[in-house]
Amino acid sequence: MTGGAGYIGSVTVAHLLADGFSVAVYDRLLYSGESLLAHASHPRFSLTAGDVRDTRRVAAAMAGADAVVHLAAIVGEPACSVDDEASWSINVDGAASVLDAATRTGVPRLLFVSTCSNYGLSNPDVIADEDSPLRPLSRYAEAKVAAERLVLHAEGGPATTVLRFGTICGLSARMRFDLLVSEMARAAVHGTTIELYTPDAWRPFLHVRDAARAIAAWAVAPPDMIAGRVYNVVGENYQKRGLAELVRKHFPATPIQITDRAPDLRDYRVSGKRIEQVLGFRTTRTVEDAFVETAAAIAEGCFRNPAWSGHSAVPPDPRILRRTTAV
Ligand SMILES: NC(=O)c1ccc[n+]([C@@H]2O[C@H](COP(=O)([O-])OP(=O)(O)OC[C@H]3O[C@@H](n4cnc5c(N)ncnc54)[C@H](O)[C@@H]3O)[C@@H](O)[C@H]2O)c1
Repeated sequence: MTGGAGYIGSVTVAHLLADGFSVAVYDRLLYSGESLLAHASHPRFSLTAGDVRDTRRVAAAMAGADAVVHLAAIVGEPACSVDDEASWSINVDGAASVLDAATRTGVPRLLFVSTCSNYGLSNPDVIADEDSPLRPLSRYAEAKVAAERLVLHAEGGPATTVLRFGTICGLSARMRFDLLVSEMARAAVHGTTIELYTPDAWRPFLHVRDAARAIAAWAVAPPDMIAGRVYNVVGENYQKRGLAELVRKHFPATPIQITDRAPDLRDYRVSGKRIEQVLGFRTTRTVEDAFVETAAAIAEGCFRNPAWSGHSAVPPDPRILRRTTAV
């Protein structure tokens, strides 16, 4: 698994190990590898530090694997805009490199984890499905669309699948507080004002544990159900206004300010029906579960500093993004 030390990756590694899988993580450890230390002595776990664009090293790390899960990326517009060129190279050339390595080593299946952000601004009265047009509104989403295409159109290599996840929420050993639900939980616990722009905009969300369950379900799905397929994975669609109501339900005193500043034009609802119908996969956790568990962890003092810049997708040392060799 590439990107296994990340927000989604570290929860997925724990889930797969508990399910009986062996997991080899390949990660540049941009945000450290502390999220994986609990597995260091696990007999079915291994870790290789390296860059996804270093094809030979990736290939060596995946030798003998039954499946590759490609999660490694520079995630979201704020992180990508720190170094647009390097981020594009990691997000697109990196995907090509992982695909190339999987082809060379004969790995039978490869999963590319993508995002529902690819649908971009859509008619909020229509629920986007996998056949809806993609309208990426950021360089990050443009890179994800480009990488999806090259992975899905590859020939002569592994069976490839794209899972488009909603915005992730919930607790992880590599915690991110730059995502809507965790940001709101932090503000609610600290009693700071939540600024809500475009309150009527819809967003699809997915609990991080359901993301891990979806990856595990893909790993054992029959080949004809995954080859060349795209599936959305969405728990619930929420209007930001609805999230504000959720905050008020649990933290009635939270100041919420609705502003007309609109730094993000995304407004979309997404259907997760196809994965339910074809793979029988259903989500089990709600946005409210994620909000409540995150707020409780903050209130109990689990984080030294939830406002620490390392709890975001912006790499602490962006200079290393241009170096493709291992650390
Ligand atoms: N978090 C979300 O809301 C969300 C939603 C939809 C899709 N996704 C996708 O899921 C994946 C994981 O997202 P996340 O939130 O866990 O991000 P994250 O930033 O927490 O983790 C990304 C991981 O990738 C690693 N990485 C980055 N560049 C690398 C490189 N060049 N070589 C090797 N490893 C590298 C990092 O060290 C990190 O461990 C990404 O592909 C992202 O696009 C995330």
